[in-house]
Amino acid sequence: MKDIHIDIRIRSASYGELDETERILVDEAKSAAARSYSPYSKFAVGAAVLLANGTTVTGSNQENAAYPSGLCAERTALFYANSRYPDQPVDMLAIAARNESGFVATPVTPCGACRQVILETEQRFKRPVRILLYGESEILLIEGIKDLLPLSFGAEFL
Ligand code: THU
Repeated sequence: MKDIHIDIRIRSASYGELDETERILVDEAKSAAARSYSPYSKFAVGAAVLLANGTTVTGSNQENAAYPSGLCAERTALFYANSRYPDQPVDMLAIAARNESGFVATPVTPCGACRQVILETEQRFKRPVRILLYGESEILLIEGIKDLLPLSFGAEFL
């Protein structure tokens, strides 16, 4: 028997430590949270996707009385980006979430289904998607989905 060690790297930064492109994308994700439709959870999530051509696409979580019919902000944004600009690789994805008292202090991380969709996006465009997770106390920077979804199942197994 042997242990397998997987190296995962996540950087923590303050808003002021981000570069201008990163700050703008985080601001877009925060604004997108205001457009969330989340009457059931009252948990509003915004996502902003930066495409290789410089276009930004945003999305927010969209809930439904039949709960599983709703969709997370990340997938709303990525699916829209890929529908509208199918040839444009995704460079960066910023996520921001708020409850009724304001933006969360500790960054929210994407759910498992969204991680799988981010993986598919990376494989589709053959480049990593940088992920910025906004929290009031810190922002987490992740260089690609491998650091959020180790041992992933992807197209290479088919
Ligand atoms: N949600 C997102 O949109 N993204 C996440 O990363 C976590 C959860 C949404 C789904 C649901 O509308 C609400 O937040 C509560 O789970």
